[in-house]
Amino acid sequence: MRTVFSIVNQKGGVGKTTTAINLATALSISGKSCLVIDLDPQGNASTGFSITSEQRTPGSYEVLMQKCNILDVIRPTEVSGLGLIPSRVELSSVEQELIKFQDREFLLKKAIDSLPDRYDSVIIDCPPGLGFLTTNALVASDKVLIPLQCEFFALEGLSQILRVIKKVKLELNSNLNLDGILLTMYDPRNKLSFQVEEDVREVMGSIVYKTIIPRNIKISESPSHGKPVLLYDHKCIGSEAYVNLAAEVLKRGSFGGLAKSKR
Ligand SMILES: Nc1ncnc2c1ncn2[C@@H]1O[C@H](COP(=O)(O)OP(=O)(O)O)[C@@H](O)[C@H]1O
Ligand SMILES: [Mg+2]
Repeated sequence: MRTVFSIVNQKGGVGKTTTAINLATALSISGKSCLVIDLDPQGNASTGFSITSEQRTPGSYEVLMQKCNILDVIRPTEVSGLGLIPSRVELSSVEQELIKFQDREFLLKKAIDSLPDRYDSVIIDCPPGLGFLTTNALVASDKVLIPLQCEFFALEGLSQILRVIKKVKLELNSNLNLDGILLTMYDPRNKLSFQVEEDVREVMGSIVYKTIIPRNIKISESPSHGKPVLLYDHKCIGSEAYVNLAAEVLKRGSFGGLAKSKR
């Protein structure tokens, strides 16, 4: 049974792409094969796996436009068992191009449903915003992971994301559930990080993952080397945190109980 995750937050710069890349890497290393779908026209996840702009066609744009079969756009990565579907800037016009297309919210789901069993999980790196692309991701997903940056306005906007998830669940995908909220860029030297953690845990309770992603220089350096942080420096605290997150996601039973039998 495959589990599809969307990494969602309408704000940019909160750690969505970093989490998509490194959670997928940690899951693959633990034996769960993963497919990352870059659904952000900025293509940062593609860059993070060293896919150059010339190598991004065909990608998620062609899949949504039904110009290519999903199997024909998957690129191998340096991580064994981890495939990537790249994106490029044209993806930003896909909503307009499909305006007259019925069922256009289901295009990504249809493509993912046609994948063979080879992948235990699919991780969709969503763009900032809660529009057409994010809706396609949510319709195709079983689980949502929301990264929240440990800064003053962390909780702002969260209720809006939760409303959108509820609406999609009600109207388009009854299978959809929030897996967890992830605190990112935590700085232990900064009192604000601690306060944000306290606030978020108080308001949101146990849906907040125990694992916290620290602010870590190796995490921010790794994309410029085209590598997940786990390949760039597997011993740094950032790598350790993403390994812990993968273990926690598996423990939450996000893989329909399969996790326990395989580990
Ligand atoms: N834990 C972290 N420590 C340090 N830098 C981080 C961390 N997480 C993300 N970054 C950096 O912050 C920026 C925004 O992160 P990114 O994952 O691209 O956010 P989003 O996808 O939500 O826009 C990137 O430059 C990334 O390398
Ligand atoms: Mg991003």
